[in-house]
Formats: sequence, C-alpha cells, structure tokens
Amino acid sequence: SMTAQPVSSESKSQPEPKKEINGGITLESIYERISVCRNCVLANTRTNTVPGEGVEHPYVMVIGEGPGEDEDKSGRPFVGKAGQLLDKMLAAIALNRTTNCYIANIVKCRPPMNRTPMPDEAYACAGYLQAQIHLLKPKFILAMGRTAVQNLLKTNTGINSLRGQWLEFQFGNEKIPLMATYHPSALLRDERLKAPAWQDLKKFREKLLAEKPDYAEIFYTQK
Ligand code: URA
Repeated sequence: SMTAQPVSSESKSQPEPKKEINGGITLESIYERISVCRNCVLANTRTNTVPGEGVEHPYVMVIGEGPGEDEDKSGRPFVGKAGQLLDKMLAAIALNRTTNCYIANIVKCRPPMNRTPMPDEAYACAGYLQAQIHLLKPKFILAMGRTAVQNLLKTNTGINSLRGQWLEFQFGNEKIPLMATYHPSALLRDERLKAPAWQDLKKFREKLLAEKPDYAEIFYTQK
C-alpha cells in the first residue's frame, strides 16, 4: 500500500527509477505537485497537504470533502474521529485502505475552521483528483457526503436525494459507477442517519459482490 508523506526536499537514499507509463505521471509526482500547490487560498493556512492514500489499483475509491485538523497535522486522509468511523463503515463491507481502497478528498488542504470548501477552491484542486482517478482507475467510487458528491457530479441536488442510488461519474469516455452516502461526521452529529447510511453501504456492497464475488477475500486474508 502507498502512504502519502509530506515530501521532503532532501532525500536520503537513491530514488527508485520510475516506470515511464502514463506520460511519466505517478502517484508520487502528483503528491509532489500537491505539496507545493498555491492554486487557492487554502495554501496560506495549511500545515500539510493531504493528497490521499491507499492501494494502487483500488476496487473502490472513497472520496471525502477535505482535511480536518488531524489530517492537516498528519498529512493523511481520514485519521481523526470521522476517519475512525469511516474505517468502521468500510470494514463493515470488507473494504479498507490497505487492501482494496484508495481514500482521497475534493480539496487537499484544510479549510480554516473546517468550513465547507468554496467552489473556487474545489475547482482549483480538481485537476489533482482527476489525475488520481486517471492513474488509479477505480472500479467504483463511494462519495462521502454532500460536498463530495455535489462536486463530483457537478450538481446542487441535496445529499438526501442523491444518497443510496447508483449514479455515474463521467470520466472522459468512461463512466465509473458512483454511490453517495452520508459523511461520517454527519453520522457523528446525528445518530438517526446511521440506519440509512447502513442501507446505502449494503446496497453498495451488493454491486461490489455482483461484479467481483471474491473482492472481500484480500480484506479477510491481509488484514
Ligand atoms: N473529513 C473529510 O472529508 N476528509 C478527511 O480527510 C477527514 C475528514
């Protein structure tokens, strides 16, 4: 599995030769570009960029909103309270970031006071997510919460109408099946959302299983 770390300017050991596929673009090269990005004002207040982490050819790409305080401090996605709940939600359907998922966010830098990213900030960051999706080629996308799904599908429709349905993320000529559910932070604020979120996850799992009956095996054997 690949774990994003803040890029340091001096590297101690010889760099591994990179395979020149995808025009020389690698996850590492995307992380390097993100680490020095000044495309929007979020660069002014971040501690670390949070590019994302997970496996290289994920069955599922999980997309959240943006880093919070713990993520900004560590440079890793979904490691705070919401992240711990996300990990439980994913584990309930045999997914995690070390076997079959990649976890990223709409914006790679923490918005001050954890406010919702502004449309111009999401737009300024979109190229990085596009590059990640192009490279990772996930079979499915799970959008966590309103901000994630609205930005991915370029819609203003509310999360209550969008969640729990099979939707499509248009990616060039390809369509990636996408489902949205409530953000784990929303579940922490309102327990009543847990039951519908679980319905969504079960529906998501059904299709994962239908497409690849053994998808959970790596989760149960490599945990
Ligand atoms: N919330 C998100 O949307 N993303 C994170 O990485 C952490 C919390």
